[in-house]
Amino acid sequence: MDAIVALAKRRGFIFQSSEIYGGLNGFFDYGPLGVELKKNIRDCWWADMVRRRDDIVGVETSIIMHPKVWEASGHVAGFTDPLVDCKVSKQRYRADQLFFAAVVVTGADGVAKTVGYVSALESEKTTADLQAAAENLKRKKAIQGQLAPVQPKDMTEATPEEIPLIPSPATGEPGSLTEPRAFNMMFETHVGPMRDSSAVAYLRPETAQGMFVDFKNVVDTGRVKLPFGIAQIGKSFRNEITPRNFIFRSREFEQMEMEYFIHPDADWLKCHEEWLAWCQEWLKSIGLPESHLSLHEHPKAKLAFYSRRTVDIMFRYPFGVQELWGIAARSDYDLQQHQKHSGVPQVYFDEATKQKVVPHVIEPAVGVDRILLAVLCAGYAEEDVKDDKGNVEKRTVLRLSPRIAPVKVAVLPLLKNKEALVGRAKELYGKLKRNYAVFYDEAGAIGRRYRRQDEIGTPWCVTIDFDTIEKDGTFTLRERDSMQQKRITEAELFALLAEKVY
Ligand code: GAP
Repeated sequence: MDAIVALAKRRGFIFQSSEIYGGLNGFFDYGPLGVELKKNIRDCWWADMVRRRDDIVGVETSIIMHPKVWEASGHVAGFTDPLVDCKVSKQRYRADQLFFAAVVVTGADGVAKTVGYVSALESEKTTADLQAAAENLKRKKAIQGQLAPVQPKDMTEATPEEIPLIPSPATGEPGSLTEPRAFNMMFETHVGPMRDSSAVAYLRPETAQGMFVDFKNVVDTGRVKLPFGIAQIGKSFRNEITPRNFIFRSREFEQMEMEYFIHPDADWLKCHEEWLAWCQEWLKSIGLPESHLSLHEHPKAKLAFYSRRTVDIMFRYPFGVQELWGIAARSDYDLQQHQKHSGVPQVYFDEATKQKVVPHVIEPAVGVDRILLAVLCAGYAEEDVKDDKGNVEKRTVLRLSPRIAPVKVAVLPLLKNKEALVGRAKELYGKLKRNYAVFYDEAGAIGRRYRRQDEIGTPWCVTIDFDTIEKDGTFTLRERDSMQQKRITEAELFALLAEKVY
């Protein structure tokens, strides 16, 4: 992860927000290459989800909506995370990410006794950390006997009697952790000059509600027929208690969500499965390897308040297997809620039965930033390669799909002081630039220029050499992953790009 974060900074993909003031936790900026990569991810999703389908339309709704939207949706009352404070260190933890275990030792008398508690923050090795802490505690207190394997629980499961006995991860001492309390993650603001409660509004915590609130408008104006979807890409804001893992969990992020409305009598489970399959295929189409993807079905007891089934597509990040894309079956919860709270019927007229129905919804919801982090993690590699003289050197390479790579082709004249080479290179560069993100580079040895492109994920480099200008007009095409080179004509180059960049 450190290498990926360093590359992201060094090559201008991602910076800390307001870095010159020390940064702001949970906020990030995208640099010149990052913004291209992010835009390409968005554009691919929009093309495949909206433009290339006949049953899905797009919207762009406002970030700040009527506060009643969030009352109706359940977010004012229920969009909370359980928060635990450490009264001594003033640190705050998400209760479901703070784990503890009783330290149980069986003495010579055969009786198992709890001799203390240990705690650890959620990680890939939470259980191992707790076990190590338990062994430490037993050693420190010089307790004889057989230590039992720890049984980790999170702080939402702690009893009132246990809470004062659990050590704070910040101080290592018990007695300072509070009971978990519900913390609403919506950012509040005020609309207009008044700063009283009548002016309170929220920065949206999900883009989804925009689609529900505009459902009637789209039905009345869009000539849509069930089943159909409404899609949106846009910023969402959550005052996360513990933003972490770089851009994985941040406080300002971008979502790509689609609400797929189906007839209440339709087979929602089948539709849910179909969208689950679609989303996995789409992730593969932008270059995420199948080996890094898995599914996680939310247990019934842990479903979000609006969901009757949620399956997450998980991705193997360097910091663990984590949620990438949630596919939820939201039933008619949202439309019913808005119908109730607004008094405006949220119905669709079913021509077949001549009845008005409130459709049900399947919702694939994904974060652009999480996809971007996934493609960086999956694509990053450090390799030993041989240079022209056979010397082994390191190359850093980002294996990004041509669909999303920030730069598609680099155009390189073999020598920068040969006018004919430079002229032809600039001519080609100008032509490519009309349709593609292209980079022109004439500085340094050709091998060095290849390496610079490898590191930012450019799939192809084209070198203009003496054969180009003196012989047949072909260029050398060098492929990033295989590092193989071949001669190619201009027409072939454009055909290659048309096929791979879509
Ligand atoms: N409308 C449903 C909804 O918003 P969610 O599971 O809370 O569901 C959907 O969010 C997706 O948005 C997640 O799967 C994740 O990709 C992304 N996401 C959620 N919270 C995020 C955060 N704090 N930072 C970055 N991405 C986030």
